[in-house]
Amino acid sequence: MKRYEEWADTVIGQIRRKMEWVSEKNRDKIPYRTDKNGDYDDRSDPSGQWRPDDGLNWWTNGFWGGILWLLYQDTGEERYARIARISERKMEKCFQDFYGLHHDVGFMFVPTAVADYKLTGNPDSRRTALHGATLLAGRFNPVGRFIRAWNDLEEDTRGWAIIDCMFNLSLLYWASEESGDPRFRQIAMLHADTVREHFVRPDGSVCHIVEFDPQTGERVKSHGGQGYGEGSSWTRGQGWALYGFMISYIHTGRREYLDTARQVADYCLANIPDSGIIPVDFCQPAEPAYEDSCGACVIAGGFLELAGRLPAGEREAYEDAAVRILRTIADSRADFGPDCDAIVQNCSAAYHSPEHHFTMSYADYYFIEAVYKVKGVGRLLW
Ligand code: GLY
Repeated sequence: MKRYEEWADTVIGQIRRKMEWVSEKNRDKIPYRTDKNGDYDDRSDPSGQWRPDDGLNWWTNGFWGGILWLLYQDTGEERYARIARISERKMEKCFQDFYGLHHDVGFMFVPTAVADYKLTGNPDSRRTALHGATLLAGRFNPVGRFIRAWNDLEEDTRGWAIIDCMFNLSLLYWASEESGDPRFRQIAMLHADTVREHFVRPDGSVCHIVEFDPQTGERVKSHGGQGYGEGSSWTRGQGWALYGFMISYIHTGRREYLDTARQVADYCLANIPDSGIIPVDFCQPAEPAYEDSCGACVIAGGFLELAGRLPAGEREAYEDAAVRILRTIADSRADFGPDCDAIVQNCSAAYHSPEHHFTMSYADYYFIEAVYKVKGVGRLLW
């Protein structure tokens, strides 16, 4: 994207300078968010009191390694690979634990093990990633044709699927491409077809959670999940759908996945505020003005993948929207200085959470990834 290359070069310089010290400072951690002093926490802290789905099983644990692999791709510096592997090795222990694992093995092991294998050919990473893919495939409900999201912690979730899982499908596509066994890819496509049918609304907005009867496979209802409410449009979920359907399109070439991604993208385009700041939910009230910079970066990444597969004349609107979002983050929601380990600020986990506007490691991941996309460098890890 020639017209934005100069901007991307400037931001890549800021990212490189920041990640040089952030990576060394946190080399033995698996960070999720920063504390009030700007220091990253550590999801791999063995003394932590974690829920079964937290600690080493926490779904975002792959993004720290992912950031480091993005920097490795960019700079070729071995130390980024070395630090990424510290977290990858720690995360392999999840398989022994097993009970706390969930469908997000895709989010966990694509930016770590798959990235390591794709970029360096590491045979240990190949085994880890195939192990993760096998567990993910085992969560498929063949009657409802969906991948079960979570385990029962506070309620019965045997029939629950969530839009975020569109990203986990990447691990299944990779496993089929790598092993030659079509089962993984077949499961991924069946799940993607179910999401097209039951999650995507005619206007291009999407449900966060859809509940099916786990015995009959019939759709029971949708839940608002991390968004404003049932029937609303959680912005990060829009991003998971848009970018997620692009991943399915890239791996299968099926036109309907591209069309669905575009339908979701057009809904986003029509609802992005003039400020370029992305709310937690496109349907939330004006006040309180909760925002989610993380959802913003995921949407931007999805726009860029979509734009890259469209002809000239059709792609520019998505490119411009992506860069507008990323510029807004870089100019007013980013910290490139020494006082905070994270770059992207003002993220929100969910609309109804008691706390808003903090940092999240995966916001940094999607921001950095999207800036490299604008520059046109780096291999797609998904
Ligand atoms: N996958 C959960 C989230 O986006 O917060």
